[in-house]
Amino acid sequence: MYFFFFISSKSQSFSHFLFFSQTSDLPVLHSRCVLVHDRQVLLFHRANGWFAMDGICYHMGGPLVKGSVVDIEEPMHFRRAAEILGVVGPKSGREVVVCPWHAYRITLDTGEGMTMDTNSHWKSKGPRQRTHKVTVKDGEVFVTLTSGKFLPSDEYCNRKDIRIEEDTT
Ligand code: FES
Repeated sequence: MYFFFFISSKSQSFSHFLFFSQTSDLPVLHSRCVLVHDRQVLLFHRANGWFAMDGICYHMGGPLVKGSVVDIEEPMHFRRAAEILGVVGPKSGREVVVCPWHAYRITLDTGEGMTMDTNSHWKSKGPRQRTHKVTVKDGEVFVTLTSGKFLPSDEYCNRKDIRIEEDTT
């Protein structure tokens, strides 16, 4: 089943934004696909704010709406040690969406692809997924598409033959 929330333009003082919904329509820790000017965008409501990025993975077109959002962990050996000791491992405070197809990790705030170096530290591969601006005002959420130099996710998100499914997990 393919389903999208269509965003309608809202005039008046926010004419250059696209109205999404009331903040209460998307609870904290939920995400949702929205179609903005024919672009497939994934909107996240997290404890530390709202984020939006292209909804189709820059790698090979995976549906990021089906990925989980996690705090990017500190080095693997810390996490393993924590697991063995039965304690909660260290957190970075930075969230990534994990693509369900090949487990690429993409930061919510900047769209950077993350990879683990030989010392088991996460490092950035640079921006890969285009992020978009989210503005919240008076309980309403607005999404503004960004533009700029080509990013790998641009290749997928304007394609009409790839559609992602709506989900709210
Ligand atoms: S398609 Fe997303 S990691 Fe490969």
